[in-house]
Amino acid sequence: MNVRFAERGTLREVNAYRATESAAAGRSPVTFDLSSNELALPPLPTALAVIEEGLTRLARYPDPTARALTEEIAGHLRLRADEVAVGPGSAGVLQQILLALCGEGDEVVYAWPGFDAYPLLVAISGATGVHVPLTSSGEHDLDGIRAAVGARTRVVILCSPHNPTGTVIDRDRLHRFLHALPDHVVTVLDEAYVEFDRGGDPPGTPEVMRAHGNTVVLRTFSKAYGLAGLRVGYAAGPRQVISTVRKTALPFGVTHIAEQAAILSLHSAAELRERLAAVTAAREELTAALRQLGLPVLPSRANFVWLPLPSAAESLARTAATAGVRVRACPGYGVRISVGEAEAHRALLTALGGAARGNWF
Ligand SMILES: Cc1ncc(COP(=O)(O)O)c(C=O)c1O
Repeated sequence: MNVRFAERGTLREVNAYRATESAAAGRSPVTFDLSSNELALPPLPTALAVIEEGLTRLARYPDPTARALTEEIAGHLRLRADEVAVGPGSAGVLQQILLALCGEGDEVVYAWPGFDAYPLLVAISGATGVHVPLTSSGEHDLDGIRAAVGARTRVVILCSPHNPTGTVIDRDRLHRFLHALPDHVVTVLDEAYVEFDRGGDPPGTPEVMRAHGNTVVLRTFSKAYGLAGLRVGYAAGPRQVISTVRKTALPFGVTHIAEQAAILSLHSAAELRERLAAVTAAREELTAALRQLGLPVLPSRANFVWLPLPSAAESLARTAATAGVRVRACPGYGVRISVGEAEAHRALLTALGGAARGNWF
């Protein structure tokens, strides 16, 4: 049948988002998935109880404004409720931001490689993505990003800790960069992994917002809080931007269960601290063990590690797959490995240790 329709121009070069390509992994069965930066632990115990209770309410729509969670987050960050917008994952909130601020002919600037969803979400908004390569040490090239900002730029996305390299933008450089941006640009600071930056000195959300009017901070309950399957995240920013961002929200986008689990997660600071300590200790052990095998690993502040192996990314992913471990190959750049179960690390290290070093260099 002849189907006639007009696809939006910016979508033509874009693929629908999908989980890690199996091409690199071949057809091996996956026992351990270290490709999506999920937590290898269940949600915090306090949040689990409320998830069960929420099952009895599934015939009802959730609160369309997720007011209780919005207020809880605002209290947590010492902001006002009109400075917070909650949505279905921070990717969902980023989509709202881009739809609210950009359209055809506009540009969105971000570092590359970066979070796979950025190009897709930018294309959905109708805008064009401008990629600025990371530095050789896997960091944002803030001068390069500043130079890429022009009259058409509506949004700059910064990611700290950065996916996929785990590097952070330090506080002074961030302030200097934001200070130097022209007024017509909104910066989205994606902090999906900020909770894992223990011992670091990330600027607090209110501090960034008060110092720079046009900055929106993006956070999620998917990573440190272990609620990726429930889809809940938020943006904190100036009230004027937040009120625009709310207009592009999918009605009822945050379920009642997600809202309640997120509220309880915010109340579970001690449980969270314990788990962050375990994840960051496992990250350091994994880093040391990979280095012992002679592999290059960047110091990471997130729940994953990055191996800058531009020409061996796929072959490393294939070797990992022979042990049932799925990792994320970024061909031409490197490999990202999420911190997982001790057993997953053992399987991975055994497989990599058994391969000839010449495979990677
Ligand atoms: C940098 C970054 N931002 C945002 C997200 C999206 O998280 P979610 O939509 O689950 O909140 C991810 C997920 O991998 C990510 O890596």
